[in-house]
Amino acid sequence: MTIRNTMHISLFSQPLKTFAMAAFAAGAMATSFLAAAEPVEIKFSHVVAENTPKGQTALKFKALVEERLPGEYKVSVFPNSQLFGDNNELAALLLNDVQFVAPSLSKFERYTKRLQLFDLPFLFKDMDAVEKFQMSDAGQALLGSMKRKGIVGMGYLHNGMKQFSANEPLKLPTDASGKKFRVMASDVLAAQFDAVNAMAVKKPFSEVFTLLQTRAIDGQENTWSNIYSKKFYEVQSYITESNHGVLDYMVVTSAAFWKGLPADKRKIIKQCMDEALAYGNKIASDKNAQDRQLIIDSGESKVVELSDSERQAWIDAMKPVWGKFEDQIGKDMIDAAVAANK
Ligand code: SIN
Repeated sequence: MTIRNTMHISLFSQPLKTFAMAAFAAGAMATSFLAAAEPVEIKFSHVVAENTPKGQTALKFKALVEERLPGEYKVSVFPNSQLFGDNNELAALLLNDVQFVAPSLSKFERYTKRLQLFDLPFLFKDMDAVEKFQMSDAGQALLGSMKRKGIVGMGYLHNGMKQFSANEPLKLPTDASGKKFRVMASDVLAAQFDAVNAMAVKKPFSEVFTLLQTRAIDGQENTWSNIYSKKFYEVQSYITESNHGVLDYMVVTSAAFWKGLPADKRKIIKQCMDEALAYGNKIASDKNAQDRQLIIDSGESKVVELSDSERQAWIDAMKPVWGKFEDQIGKDMIDAAVAANK
């Protein structure tokens, strides 16, 4: 093959040869110019559906970046654990296989113990208190809590308050006794279920529906939007409106990727992220309220409301968990969070 090509070229006269080589060089330059003009791909991976606060925020970020840096950057969003799931998304971020992820605040335990704060049961009375704490100096300081691990916190994103779901109505802590509940990979969440003599099973989000459907577990805790979009309500007969904890996110990138961006582009991308987060935080509470109503309307799962004394029984049973994690989280942080309830 090589010999034949050489012979073929040698059939050209010298001027023709020069012309052919110039044409080849021009073609190669055009190709490399075109290749250089390809937009840089930024991957944003997450584990939830697109019709959730996080799914919508990621799409908003994509739209803003592609509008403000057209032809220079494109954002590819991978929802539903398509690219990476709970078990590997942060490792993938540090390998630069993905540039943005937004794990729940419960999923950073391997990188910092400080964020365990958000998992303490009955810490925040509502989402206004969560927002107030996140915007406070203490809350903003936590965005930098994984700096030494090479993880940069871009900002908080709301989902909402968590509810318990199960195959039987959970009105009192004793109703949970002996049952198996899926939790995110968080020791605080495991301790929360230990406190009511239930068994906590740490599993990735992508496995929850099947675990519930096959009755390998009895229940789980999640927000209305996750319960609706992942159809957990179709395989759980009861949802207790407990609002016992918060499920929010931190959008993170890696220090290596972030510092490697040209300063002017980094500024624009940060602005796009801030606007996308503001958008997501604005729609989160309506999304959860709508999804709660859709679940009720479906008639597939019954919503259990707690009386004040029933709710107090859950608080009394679960609040001792705080003391177990105070040293790891920091009393100053817990106090600052409690102060946000005022
Ligand atoms: C998420 O909202 O990102 C998933 C929450 C979960 O793992 O339960």
